[in-house]
Amino acid sequence: MDDSSLSWDDGALVTIDQRGLPHEVRELRLDTVDAVIDAIRVLAIRGAPAIGIAGAFGVVIATAAHTVDGVVDEARVHDDADRIAAARPTAVNLAWAVQRVRAKIAHGADAVLAETLDMLAEDGRVNRAAATHAADLVQELCPDRPLRVLTHCNTGRLATSAFGTAIGTLRVLFERGALEDVLVDETRPLLQGARLTTWELAEAGIPHRLTIDAAAAWAMATGQVDCALVGADRVTVNGDVANKIGTYSLALAARHHGIPFIVVAPESTRDPNMATGRDIVVEERAAAEVIGFGGVATAPEGTAVFNPAFDVTPGALVTAVVSELGVVHRCAATTGSGSTRTLVPG
Ligand code: MRU
Repeated sequence: MDDSSLSWDDGALVTIDQRGLPHEVRELRLDTVDAVIDAIRVLAIRGAPAIGIAGAFGVVIATAAHTVDGVVDEARVHDDADRIAAARPTAVNLAWAVQRVRAKIAHGADAVLAETLDMLAEDGRVNRAAATHAADLVQELCPDRPLRVLTHCNTGRLATSAFGTAIGTLRVLFERGALEDVLVDETRPLLQGARLTTWELAEAGIPHRLTIDAAAAWAMATGQVDCALVGADRVTVNGDVANKIGTYSLALAARHHGIPFIVVAPESTRDPNMATGRDIVVEERAAAEVIGFGGVATAPEGTAVFNPAFDVTPGALVTAVVSELGVVHRCAATTGSGSTRTLVPG
């Protein structure tokens, strides 16, 4: 497998099963529509841009499966495309990517594949561009010292196809010698931070410390965070941001401490059809994710659970949303240069 976490090989989507990480780097080969949908639902493939590209490969598989003697049964492919787009509701990238390749279905599986491979190639370029703009902004807002950055969930090459968004920004800052430390939220309940982000940062040689989610506000209060960098699953027209559960609390804490809170996301994560975050469907996931981990019970059996996979941060709490086009939303209220209001000076 090359630097891309997603590739196409002989009729199959090939990727890493993210559920096995960090202990097991297990290859996943998906060659049916149902297998692609299942991989997205169980988070074997996860992260907004990655599920979008995987969904598009699912449409390639559907088109090939419903072609007989060179004739595409378009209605059946569109039915499969609908099922793929509905696999997870919150990240707009999935619906966006499936919609983008739908236009090629009538031209056959090779045309759908060509469009999907274009999308895959674009993803790495787009992420690097967004990350470079975000790194410029972070350095402009926090010019005084090598940066201590807090991040949440996983926004790296696993969550995209290559380079990453918020993690991409960390890569750029590190390349520039401007990064001192990354504080990685473990990201309950599925531990995308602990399992995946630490794995990617270690792979890149970027210094980092893992912390429990509940320690983030205290890390800010004790002067250990200059800036918070996160990704997004959907950004609405007014700048509200859906992202991994816990993002909203981080934004509130960052605002209290005058710390820049920056969202890095490709244009494909911006939803031009949704005015505000009120309309975002927040996926709720199974109780099993909260009452146990790795097959070990952590709460009494049958405990009732509230398990939203995402939250929506009001745009007013977001310092800036940065895409490959540059800063696309900026909240005038945040001008702080990081860790200015601390209890214990860092
Ligand atoms: O449930 P997940 O792991 O798919 O959630 C992922 C996130 O919330 C990421 O922060 C987001 O998709 C951006 S990935 C570049």
